[in-house]
Amino acid sequence: MQFHDHALSAEALAQLFNEARSYNGWLDKPVSDEQLHAIWDLMKMAPTSANMQPARIVWVKSDEAKAKLAACVMEGNRAKVLAAPVTAVIGYDIDFHEELPWLFPHTDAKSWFEGNEAGREEGAFRNSSLQGAYLMLAARALGLDCGPMSGFDPAGVNAAFFAEEPRYRVNFICSVGYGDPASIFERSPRPEFATFNRIA
Ligand SMILES: Cc1cc2nc3c(=O)[nH]c(=O)nc-3n(C[C@H](O)[C@H](O)[C@H](O)COP(=O)(O)O)c2cc1C
Repeated sequence: MQFHDHALSAEALAQLFNEARSYNGWLDKPVSDEQLHAIWDLMKMAPTSANMQPARIVWVKSDEAKAKLAACVMEGNRAKVLAAPVTAVIGYDIDFHEELPWLFPHTDAKSWFEGNEAGREEGAFRNSSLQGAYLMLAARALGLDCGPMSGFDPAGVNAAFFAEEPRYRVNFICSVGYGDPASIFERSPRPEFATFNRIA
């Protein structure tokens, strides 16, 4: 069945984009494991190259895991990670191609990446970044807020969360919860179409 014969409502667009903000502080309201599963069940449906799905996510929820993550982030992000109900460590698998036989069964896509580590790095980084964006939009669609962050020590995060899987590398981290409206800055300027676009 096709659902895309009309645009989403103004309310839905506000929730996803126009009024959605990046939060620096969090209300004391928990996020359930069911909500994390619901985020994944939406974001996994969005497109990646050859359906490679290279993102590997650790949802940091326990006090112990939060303390480990907080030790690896920049000073300005430390309190945010500790206060957020959950922070997703969004990594990528440099050997994602091992999974392609079941993720993309139409053809032998695994062979495209064998012996091509530069191509795998490019594909994994590009597509896990997309998946991070899908994660934020899925969370917002489900009524949650996000706080993305790249201010951290990647080697420290990899050692803390991916030590047993050296093929995984962190891309960025993103807190998820119910944002504290008092914690946001004024909205930064957004460029008009003509500033960064042209139609060729
Ligand atoms: C990949 C990424 C990394 C970011 N890193 C940080 C960060 O380390 N610390 C921080 O406070 N904000 C960080 N931000 C938040 C951005 O500054 C924020 O999303 C942007 O200014 C837009 O804000 P708005 O969504 O409230 O309009 C990051 C955002 C993204 C998408």
